[in-house]
Amino acid sequence: MSEQGIAAGFSRLAPFYDAAGMLILGGALQRAQLCFIGEMTWSKALILGGGTGLSLKALLRSQSRGVVCFAEPAPAMLRRARRRVADQPGERVRFVAGGIESIDPSEQFDLVCTHFFLDLFADSSARDLMRRIDRQLLPGGGWHYADFEYPRRGLRRWPSKAFIQSLYAAFRLLCGIEARRLPNCGALFEELGYDMTGQSLRAGGMITTRIYRKPTANID
Ligand SMILES: C[S@@+](CC[C@H](N)C(=O)[O-])C[C@H]1O[C@@H](n2cnc3c(N)ncnc32)[C@H](O)[C@@H]1O
Repeated sequence: MSEQGIAAGFSRLAPFYDAAGMLILGGALQRAQLCFIGEMTWSKALILGGGTGLSLKALLRSQSRGVVCFAEPAPAMLRRARRRVADQPGERVRFVAGGIESIDPSEQFDLVCTHFFLDLFADSSARDLMRRIDRQLLPGGGWHYADFEYPRRGLRRWPSKAFIQSLYAAFRLLCGIEARRLPNCGALFEELGYDMTGQSLRAGGMITTRIYRKPTANID
């Protein structure tokens, strides 16, 4: 499906998105996004695929200074995010109705947040996307990453895998996303030379929050 088709699918889900997540995973999706957010230091942040703006609000409240670019292609998600931060000074947020391709490639950020976003993409698209994001992150910058992952071991490994695959079936049907399984983002961060400086797991290891740090000298 086209990017517009995917955005239209997520727009249709917007009124139920947060409540459905809460109902199905009892707040784990929300907690994963908020974990560590208050510990990040940043002056110019990029939130990609930010949905209804939960992390945007938390980021803005975490410090009184700093500006955020919030990129989200689904119109109804974007409207909800705008409403959520209506009490914040307007000059602190730039809303972009689109993805990374709608952002000037020369613009640089010192923090990037991707929450339950990279999992929409198959491995090769996720790699291209992460490389593009990487070029826009300053050396030493932080990447706040929250997403699903397949637990490596333990009794919950197979039920978790089945649960994640059922989510893929639903999101493929409802939004037309391309991925059929989780991209290996951990390997892609390694490939890019990032250091993981923090990690928190929840929902039996099926949901992870990680802080990655871009190397100060480019390894390419
Ligand atoms: C699963 S939702 C996650 C929303 C939010 N980050 C959260 O965790 O609640 C994925 C979001 O990515 C957005 N999205 C889809 N394709 C995108 C793209 N190419 N670039 C940026 N965002 C995109 C969707 O509209 C949707 O809001």
